[in-house]
Amino acid sequence: MQQKKGRKATTRQASGGRHRGRSARRTTAQQADRHVYYERAVQNPPADTDFIQRTFRRLRRRAPQTLREDFCGTAALCADWVRRGVDRRAYGIDLDERTLNWGIRHHLVPLGKRAAKVELIRADVRDRVPFKSDVIAAFNFSYLAFKDRGMLRDYFKLVRAGLAPDGIFYLDLYGGPEAMELREERTDYPDFTYVWDQDAFNPITHETKCYIHFEFPDGSALRRAFSYDWRLWQIPELEDIAREAGFADFLIYWEGTERKTGEGNGIYRPSRRGDNSPAHVSYLVAVK
Ligand SMILES: C[S@@+](CC[C@H](N)C(=O)[O-])C[C@H]1O[C@@H](n2cnc3c(N)ncnc32)[C@H](O)[C@@H]1O
Repeated sequence: MQQKKGRKATTRQASGGRHRGRSARRTTAQQADRHVYYERAVQNPPADTDFIQRTFRRLRRRAPQTLREDFCGTAALCADWVRRGVDRRAYGIDLDERTLNWGIRHHLVPLGKRAAKVELIRADVRDRVPFKSDVIAAFNFSYLAFKDRGMLRDYFKLVRAGLAPDGIFYLDLYGGPEAMELREERTDYPDFTYVWDQDAFNPITHETKCYIHFEFPDGSALRRAFSYDWRLWQIPELEDIAREAGFADFLIYWEGTERKTGEGNGIYRPSRRGDNSPAHVSYLVAVK
């Protein structure tokens, strides 16, 4: 795997006297909870919920009630979903028990009684589940872990089977020429820097290795707080696979561009023609 220069983790200690407690000498990175920074830098559940509600209503002429969040991690979307309506239910599926437990403490407990509307399931998203959902969402590209076409198609088929008769499957995808470059993208927040590190890309297989690092003002860093080993599928491939899996339609919601800055404007509309920007993130919507 290709290593880039100048990216050694710094763990400079905060100054502390001989008699000060251990915690006084701990760096921000040593005390940091990686999920807190991940959620702040990467996720926006209210925007995802808004998008799902708006598009589902437009496509199906009714309000969706049940959400299944695949690869749910801390189940932030599940929590936002049930917060928005008394009749709502959410199921979150993830392999990692510790991450699910983090989600229970930080997202479900604060919901109070409404937490009973969320069920978290420790399982593989490719396991069969005995319930149907109006919406199944797999966000932040987690399905890219399925590198084999047959494996991805089988997952899409299972998703389709897990949807209500008029259910909709929501995915997201990043792409564009920059997605295939070895590069680091840094985003500054008042109290940390989020680093998206595209560390390796194989143009033959489209396999990519990416990391998330968090850096802090005291010079400490959480290197490789999250690691990804993916195949960077392309939109037309995903559309073909979704249709092969039996989905009746596949819509690409492309982000509009801010005129003055040329940056994305956060408004996603169905489109069959995208501007050839260096990098893009889109919502992909597979209709049963
Ligand atoms: C990138 S995180 C996604 C978190 C969240 N969905 C988001 O939008 O940010 C990927 C999560 O997928 C889980 N995961 C990976 N493979 C899985 C599988 N086959 N079945 C269920 N969960 C899986 C990991 O445990 C991890 O919590």
